Amino acid sequence: MMYSRIAGTGSYLPARVVTNFDLAKTMDTSDEWIRERTGIVQRHIAAEGETTVDLAEHAARRAIEAAGIDPAEIDLIAFGTTTPDQVFPNCGVLLQDRLGLRGCPAMGLEAACTGFIYALSIADKFIRLGDAKCALVVGAETLSRICDWTDRGTAILFGDGAGAVVLKPDSEAGIISTHLHADSTYKDLLYCPAGVSKGIGRPGDPAMHIKMSGNETFKVAVNTLGRIVDETLAANSLDKSAIDWLVPHQANIRIIQATARKLDMPMERVIVTVDTHGNTSAASVPLALDAGVRSGRIKRGEMLLLEAFGGGFTWGSALLRY
Ligand code: ACO
Repeated sequence: MMYSRIAGTGSYLPARVVTNFDLAKTMDTSDEWIRERTGIVQRHIAAEGETTVDLAEHAARRAIEAAGIDPAEIDLIAFGTTTPDQVFPNCGVLLQDRLGLRGCPAMGLEAACTGFIYALSIADKFIRLGDAKCALVVGAETLSRICDWTDRGTAILFGDGAGAVVLKPDSEAGIISTHLHADSTYKDLLYCPAGVSKGIGRPGDPAMHIKMSGNETFKVAVNTLGRIVDETLAANSLDKSAIDWLVPHQANIRIIQATARKLDMPMERVIVTVDTHGNTSAASVPLALDAGVRSGRIKRGEMLLLEAFGGGFTWGSALLRY
């Protein structure tokens, strides 16, 4: 039996920090409201001209260094993002170019906040089948580019950033199972309507902005993440006590707490970055994973449950021994 194992993690956040107090200067909101309802204190926002692939390159180089590999070993790039630099080539190809690589397959995957879990699942299957020996899996976003900065219902939530992992084959431990889903019933609760085929709006065009029914999204997210926790444990005949760390998508601290309760996990065993990163969509899980690893909390051999939920709705999980 061959597994894919995380050999190294990396992440990157743009330099500019925007606090709740900064937002309260330009819209009708307050630090108190944002903290209480979401747990967010600040977020990082990309500089003008700084793109998703710029952020991803930093994260990827850190993951490559942590894995101790030569970039030339990479034979697959899977890149989850909702905010690509351009229509094509995809961000995976653009990142391949930055890293000076040629020839390996490089793909972009769009599944909103679940983009990294989708990319991880696909890369895992390549490695298990023997079709790749060293995969670079990335989640990176510049969500700030599709935020309506006049809409207090959405703009307060999102931030920019990137996270990456290097996956290598291992006979003993690694990704145990991944679980992916989508339900188009909910496509109108969270979406961004602009697109090539329908017509890309000009900057500032409302079609370029995230639209969200926050309250309904919140309720479906809590229920759905509860279900995927059950599904993941049942698929592996595991009790919830087997999980050492929950590494959740960072959308809202109240959603994270609900999932932790479902697992009977104290918040000390949950990696939380939503306070300082906000919701970075596809970047949020690998950013949180890297924060957990680099702070020394997540250790080799421990059992991790990664999960995410986003526009579509899409959702997914990965159970792995780190
Ligand atoms: N500051 C102050 N007041 C606000 C703000 C704000 N930023 N935003 C909304 N309000 C007001 C509303 O107008 C409303 O006022 P009213 O009662 O006078 O009408 C009141 O606060 C309550 O609004 P709700 O929308 O009911 O607030 P809620 O508690 O639901 O919190 C939130 C809103 C934070 C958006 C929450 O619904 C949420 O986190 N939703 C889920 C987000 C999510 O998980 N998204 C999925 C992933 S994202 C992706 O895939 C890209």
